[in-house]
Amino acid sequence: MRKPLIAGNWKMNHLYSQVPAYFQKLSEELKGKVDPRAGQVDILLAVPAPFLGLAREVAEQSGYLVAAQTVHEKADGAFTGEISVPMLKDMGLRWTLVGHSERRQYYNETDASVAAKAKACIEQDVTPIVCVGETRVEREAGQTEAVLRRQMEAVLSAVGSSVAYVIAYEPVWAIGTGLTATEAQAQEAHAFIRSVLRSKIGSGAEQLRILYGGSVKSSNISGLMKQVDVDGALVGGASLDPAEFSKIVAF
Ligand code: PGA
Repeated sequence: MRKPLIAGNWKMNHLYSQVPAYFQKLSEELKGKVDPRAGQVDILLAVPAPFLGLAREVAEQSGYLVAAQTVHEKADGAFTGEISVPMLKDMGLRWTLVGHSERRQYYNETDASVAAKAKACIEQDVTPIVCVGETRVEREAGQTEAVLRRQMEAVLSAVGSSVAYVIAYEPVWAIGTGLTATEAQAQEAHAFIRSVLRSKIGSGAEQLRILYGGSVKSSNISGLMKQVDVDGALVGGASLDPAEFSKIVAF
């Protein structure tokens, strides 16, 4: 049985001074519905880098997981503006997103660099949430499975048989557009990703959580979560409001 993971991704939103109030409100909204410490569901927030220390302080004691939004593959060096895995670990952080489509699109991250980041995380006991997904042009050209296979194989060749990571399937055409993949489209892509995993790592594939991302909101989460290969969600816009995010967490 895979434990559901509901992850919020603030992207470049909110302010440092708003962090404590966000988590306080989230806890108030969840009261009597979901106890983050009870362990039925993992609840994670990927916050901007300058908020990480504060978020860890205010959120982790309440049972929330805190993640970075990206990390560099090298442990240290002349990479101005970047954050390393040892830096996250030293702050007591154990999670990060890797290879989000916005990183691939605007910051030239490639299958190879995403795979290297995932490997660096796993080697240092930081759990990467590795994002994969096709663009609209790729889907319309019938290339969805080929793209997912290419992205997954790059990761698998770097991380081997490890199961210490999470996959997020995020069709790029559904991110921030209001267009959600249908439940059937999500299930089909998730089952395909699991079949690629199974062909490389066998039964370990059953342990790996595959999250769906792309315009998830409180009105579509429960249908998505009913799909057998959907193990959670990566939520962008709808995670910014703690009241809305709490409804998603309580799917
Ligand atoms: P969205 O973003 O929920 O705003 O579509 C999802 C994501 O980019 O992780």
